[in-house]
Amino acid sequence: MAALVPRSDFTLLSCNPALVYLDSAATAQKPRAVLDAMSDFYESEYANPHRGAYALSARATERYARARAAVARFFGARDEACVIFTRGTTDSINAVAAAWGRANLRPGDEVIVTGAEHHANFVPWQQIAIERGATFTICPLAEDGRADVEALASLASPKTRVIAFNHVSNVLGAINPVAEIVSIARSVGALTVCDGAQGAPHMSVGFDALGADLYAASAHKMLGPMGTGVLIGRREVLESMPPYQTGGDMIAFVGDEHTTWNTLPHKLEAGTPNVAGAVGLAAACDYLTSIGMDAVAAHERALVRLAYERVSAIEGVRVHGPGASERSGVLSFTLGDIHPHDLATLLDERHICIRAGHHCAQPLMRRLGVAATARASFYVYNDENDVELLASALESAKRIFALA
Ligand SMILES: Cc1ncc(COP(=O)(O)O)c(C=O)c1O
Repeated sequence: MAALVPRSDFTLLSCNPALVYLDSAATAQKPRAVLDAMSDFYESEYANPHRGAYALSARATERYARARAAVARFFGARDEACVIFTRGTTDSINAVAAAWGRANLRPGDEVIVTGAEHHANFVPWQQIAIERGATFTICPLAEDGRADVEALASLASPKTRVIAFNHVSNVLGAINPVAEIVSIARSVGALTVCDGAQGAPHMSVGFDALGADLYAASAHKMLGPMGTGVLIGRREVLESMPPYQTGGDMIAFVGDEHTTWNTLPHKLEAGTPNVAGAVGLAAACDYLTSIGMDAVAAHERALVRLAYERVSAIEGVRVHGPGASERSGVLSFTLGDIHPHDLATLLDERHICIRAGHHCAQPLMRRLGVAATARASFYVYNDENDVELLASALESAKRIFALA
């Protein structure tokens, strides 16, 4: 199984032919198309958008608007004004928890998250619940790490105001049943917030059809730049949400005593926007679209199936999460008593990059009964050989630690 895209599209990978990059769930490498689009903006159309009466500023404004249109297309959101540029998934979710939460949560209300959330979709909800006197409930997980929808259905009640859940778990690769979760939330009138940090890079999102009220993602995990992300929402939800931050073009009128807000998307984008970031994300979206998201998902599934087979065949390995055919391109495992950090360090000697630790999901680690795991994650530039190198490096690590 060859890589889905030429390695030469990625300067860092082609300059380092021995590098086996298996940490795309943390951040993905950047194709030249993304870097070129960003430098083109800086070199040929750079100015502060929105504020200038001169042609160059108008061009920067147009470039920003075109980026928003491309991102909206990629995410399947017909209403471009409902695509808000943020600093990333963490920023998007914090904005919702703070702005929506402060305006809507009352003592006695309930916020539900799942036990498999990244801290970015756990801590903001926990904290706003504490601040507002709301109850913070953690939905149990099914055996495979997805939200236990039966448990969720019995937990949800008219007191439930928010259900926040991941599209795909960053630790287990388990894909949540979004439609079922949304339907439970709707039956009790709760807001749904989907953390798409590990969904958007790997599968077609189709926001309008997905049903979630709000969807958050990070550009850097989907071949785009760091420091950029999106919050996509249903218009009624975004319109009713107060601004998270104030200043810049998010105003309509500033009086001495009060201020009124601009329309969407500007109301939720305070300050000078990160236009280069939006341009880079749009280029990443176009790059992924040219490959086809179904092809991306199929490629990762094939790689992860092979990795599952090869890695779980090593004696002493415990793979966490669902079976090979039900996960996106993430494989978390432990190998005997070897600390995942030691494994990652040994693999690094062979230029294999994997992640080790709690993956910013300590509540999930507790539920799995481990302190840490090793995680290999796959993307469009990985191939079968990467999987083979991973498996043989793990065999060798096992010998070094005298487990064999
Ligand atoms: C599922 C999930 N949610 C949220 C985040 C946070 O993303 P960011 O650090 O880009 O804001 C991550 C990052 O690893 C993630 O995997």
